[in-house]
Amino acid sequence: MVKRSALLLALLAAALCVVGFQPTRAEEAKGAIGQTTIALPAPESKSKVTVEEALAKRRSVRSYSTEPITLQQVSQLLWAAQGITEPSRGLRTAPSAVASYPLRLYLFAGNVKGLPAGAYRYIPQGHKLELVASGDQRSNVGDQPQMRTAPALIAYIADYTDTAKSFGSDTARRWAAIETGHSAQNVLLEEVALGLVGVSMGLIDEAKMRSTLKLTDNEEPLYAVSAGNKR
Ligand SMILES: Cc1cc2nc3c(=O)[nH]c(=O)nc-3n(C[C@H](O)[C@H](O)[C@H](O)COP(=O)(O)O)c2cc1C
Repeated sequence: MVKRSALLLALLAAALCVVGFQPTRAEEAKGAIGQTTIALPAPESKSKVTVEEALAKRRSVRSYSTEPITLQQVSQLLWAAQGITEPSRGLRTAPSAVASYPLRLYLFAGNVKGLPAGAYRYIPQGHKLELVASGDQRSNVGDQPQMRTAPALIAYIADYTDTAKSFGSDTARRWAAIETGHSAQNVLLEEVALGLVGVSMGLIDEAKMRSTLKLTDNEEPLYAVSAGNKR
């Protein structure tokens, strides 16, 4: 009996891997709410910094110059976090358990050249942003000083809707936390490659993020990564 359910689970997982959850139900429905859509510039596929150099240089940095970061840099960071790298199957830069992609990324822009201050949802399909709340919303991520001074913050929200249905809520939560780590490390390494600095932050203000981003009960704020220029 145990063997049979393990086999069924393995078959389900394999099927989901082939099909992927694709852009999904909850994700697409939420994306449709956005009024203002901003197309991001195409990400670069080459860098002068090697992966080894990026790993060796990455350090948590909490103070930044007043210089803005650019929309091209924002594009590159979001692509590193969740960009689609295999469009036919919707697969992305970071791994995802059974290709379920439960992470919803939001950009909190305060000092990005070419982008009005606001909170934006990143839509991997089409590599674009959708405005969720206009004006500087960075203080709604939390009250750590670097959250106010970093030109931009990338916030991680997990949506457990799809994975919890198939695998239960404990597994859905565990997988989403693991995936957040994969994706956030991509962002931190990409920052080094771009000559930017930042820090990943687990101490966030869940209540403020929930109300700013109008999250559902199935969505949970998990993490944030800052991005700025060296001081
Ligand atoms: C899960 C997690 C949560 C973290 N939360 C915060 C945070 O809220 N604020 C902060 O300034 N740094 C935070 N950090 C960064 C750590 O303080 C930092 O990684 C650690 O001091 C090691 O330094 P390094 O990143 O430069 O190697 C967090 C790191 C992790 C992995």
